[in-house]
Order: sequence, then structure tokens, then C-alpha cells
Amino acid sequence: MTVRLAILASGRGSNLQALIDAISRGDLQAGIVGVFSDKPACGALAKARAAGIPAIACEPRDYASRAVHDEALFSQVAAVQPDLIVCAGYMRLISEAAVRRFLGRMINIHPSLLPKYPGLHTHRRALEAGDAEHGASVHMVIPALDAGPVLAQARIAVLPGDSAESLAHRLLPQEHALLVECLRLYCGGHVAIADDGIHFQGRRLPEPLQLDDHQHLREMH
Ligand code: GRF
Repeated sequence: MTVRLAILASGRGSNLQALIDAISRGDLQAGIVGVFSDKPACGALAKARAAGIPAIACEPRDYASRAVHDEALFSQVAAVQPDLIVCAGYMRLISEAAVRRFLGRMINIHPSLLPKYPGLHTHRRALEAGDAEHGASVHMVIPALDAGPVLAQARIAVLPGDSAESLAHRLLPQEHALLVECLRLYCGGHVAIADDGIHFQGRRLPEPLQLDDHQHLREMH
């Protein structure tokens, strides 16, 4: 059974493209059944169309409130019957009702080593804090922002002279590998998302898996 993925994005869509490429290489037994965005002109929707994937925009200004917009967008997501929703650069806060509608079936990739730096400007915040390392996290979406159980992380060293831009640039390829690997485990049935957190190989994951130098996810004992 091919896992049905719905992707939510607001930006250029490089994480989406990484998934499209992994699927076409045969590295990921999944199908992207729809890409959804709040930004009709974003790169992610253009990439979806180029790949022949349904691309649906729901512009907030067309709706009376955040809740009504969420309801409309997530009803369209539900209509494609996804097994898993992947937020990859979706830049709107998702209402609690929408999160609860898909609790346990929605993950997000966030460019920080959560629980550090939920929210925005994560690269700059890591630099300002003088962190020796930075990274990205794939986590289960819960109503609180960027606060759900973390499935896996990728880490990079912060280098002397790094700017927020150079850090983001160096992190992005790691994000792509992290997201593809997380979905490979999920699609392979090795990872499950439950109410009490992430389950890996049939038991609750005590701490996030880590992406190693061979781009594989490993448990850290
Ligand atoms: C990524 O850095 C992701 O971690 C963050 O937004 C960015 C999306 O980039 N949430 P892209 O649209 O996938 O290129």
C-alpha cells in the first residue's frame, strides 16, 4: 500500500522537491496526493504542478477568519484522503481545531534543534545564543506551536563567521535528507505516531533519532 502524503507549504518548496525526487528515484514508497498552500504564487505550488501533482491554494483574505480559512483548507486536505500531512515551510499558525482534526497524522519540519527556538528566525537566534551547533527537527504537530514530540533531528556545526543566511543554506540539504529519511521510516512501517508520542520499531521513542554522516537515522543510546 502506497502511503498517501499531503504537503502544506508557503514558500519555494525545496523540501517538497526533495520528496518528489525521492519518490521518483524509488527511494520513498509514497505518493503525494496534493500540495496545499496559503500562497497561490508560491514556488511549492509551481513545483507541484510541474510534477503533475494537484496544487491547491486557499488564500486567507478570501475567508472571514483564520478559523474559516483553516476549515476550508483542511477540508480540501481531507478530501484527498491523506495518510499523513507534511508541513514543509507552511508559514501560518494552524488552528487548534484543524490540528485536532489530524492529530497523529500531521508532522512538521522545523529549522532548529527543538525544543530550542520554536517559531521564527531560528538561525539568527542560534547565532545570537552562541550555539556550537544548530539543526532541524521533524516533529508531530500538536496545538502548541512547534512543540510536539520530535521524531528525528539533523545537526550541523555553527562555523566562525556564519550568518543566518549561511547557516540556513548549509542546513537546507540536511533538512531534505532528514525529511526523506523520516518518511522512509514512516512509509516502511517502522515509525508510528500515537497520542503518547512517536513509536519506533514498536516502542515509544525516548529521544529523537539522529541523522548520521551516511544520511541514515539512528537511535542515540
Ligand atoms: C525550511 O527551512 C523549513 O525548515 C522551514 O521553512 C523552510 C521551507 O523551505 N519550515 P522550502 O519551502 O521547503 O524550500
